[in-house]
Amino acid sequence: MKNNLINTKFTLPCGVRLNNRLVKSAMTERIGNKKFEPTRGHVRLYEDWADTNAGLLITGNVMIDHKHLESAGNVCFEERMLPQLNRWANAGKKKGNHIWVQISHAGRQTNKFNATRPLAPSDVQLKKIGLFGKPRAMSEGDIEKVIEGFVKTALLVKKAGFTGVQVHSAHGYLLSQFLSPATNIRTDKWGGTLENRSRLLLTILREIRKQVGQEFPLSVKLNSADFQKGGLTEEESQEVVKMLDKEKIDLLEISGGTYEKVAFFLMNEDEGQVRESTKRREAYFMDFAKKVRAISDLPLLITGGFRSFDFCNEILENGELDLIGMGRPFITDREKIGGFIEGNVPVLNNLVIRTGIKQFEDAAEGGYYARQLIRFSKGKPFERNLSPTWSSTFLVLYEMKKALSRRIFQ
Ligand SMILES: Cc1cc2nc3c(=O)[nH]c(=O)nc-3n(C[C@H](O)[C@H](O)[C@H](O)COP(=O)(O)O)c2cc1C
Repeated sequence: MKNNLINTKFTLPCGVRLNNRLVKSAMTERIGNKKFEPTRGHVRLYEDWADTNAGLLITGNVMIDHKHLESAGNVCFEERMLPQLNRWANAGKKKGNHIWVQISHAGRQTNKFNATRPLAPSDVQLKKIGLFGKPRAMSEGDIEKVIEGFVKTALLVKKAGFTGVQVHSAHGYLLSQFLSPATNIRTDKWGGTLENRSRLLLTILREIRKQVGQEFPLSVKLNSADFQKGGLTEEESQEVVKMLDKEKIDLLEISGGTYEKVAFFLMNEDEGQVRESTKRREAYFMDFAKKVRAISDLPLLITGGFRSFDFCNEILENGELDLIGMGRPFITDREKIGGFIEGNVPVLNNLVIRTGIKQFEDAAEGGYYARQLIRFSKGKPFERNLSPTWSSTFLVLYEMKKALSRRIFQ
């Protein structure tokens, strides 16, 4: 039998050691309560995910500002929540796993249920069927508050007993909006040149590092590209990687796309063609990874489309990546992941969600998986036959209801 690289330990630059190379990537849970607190559902989800034995579990995005949510069910950390946060952290560490919190600010991708005029680098509105209001360009004071918000949240992450933090600078959220010339048309020190557009991300990282210390894992999720006209290009993203390489971060996770150009789901091909498409699908961001390896020593994680043991093992063996990230298999195949890590399960599920209506596929895919997570949080099992069309409608109604109940509460 071949060496099993997936089931080997990995030491990060800060000295922390992960039990194996499999990472559950961030998937927004949407189950926070009216007070933006985590719930029993978070504990249940993470206890089950800890049982997969994945070396690292990254939480869904936790927002640094309750006015700029990605979902009405997001959690926003506050000191008063430490007991609940601690229960969540302990659930994720149950099997010696690491549990890191992804922290974010949605900027212009805050939907109208949560903010009609969200703050963003510039007043460039998202082009997406009326769900997102025209943003207001941030003042210098607003930017300062964002820096404080990231740092405060990172400190609470550590205090609550989570074992690391990931700064979300991908998928078109605030920090990714600052990086992109399409959404950042500022003329001050936070816009214009790539150096200026990266300033907010780098400032936040340096401040967090100062506060959490050298031994606490600090990671960044970055787009390889926005995949849209005028957005962050691959070449610019590589320049950002060079800047990150000089910072003391422990892990770089590569992803891509924004709400306008969803790319994190792209690699799902038709199920009938799985064999031919496997390589392509699994090669999702691999080309970019090679370029990153050439210019940086940062430990590297990629998420998106990885499903087969042999392929994952091979890219670890070739040194193309240090860690393998997965999202949807942690929903469709939770009980098989332990076997996958041990080399006893050759391939994980590649469930394809299709409605046949092109403009609707992203929403249906997102809705389908979001609904499964909400089910899991209530102790219900995976339900393969959920209607994708209804799931996306369900999600919009769920968001409206949650946003409304939070507004009433406030
Ligand atoms: C339901 C769902 C929620 C997600 N939420 C987040 C999130 O909060 N933060 C993030 O960075 N990525 C998020 N993603 C993207 C995943 O981390 C991952 O990049 C994507 O699912 C592709 O990986 P996969 O092919 O293994 O599923 C989400 C994906 C899904 C399916």
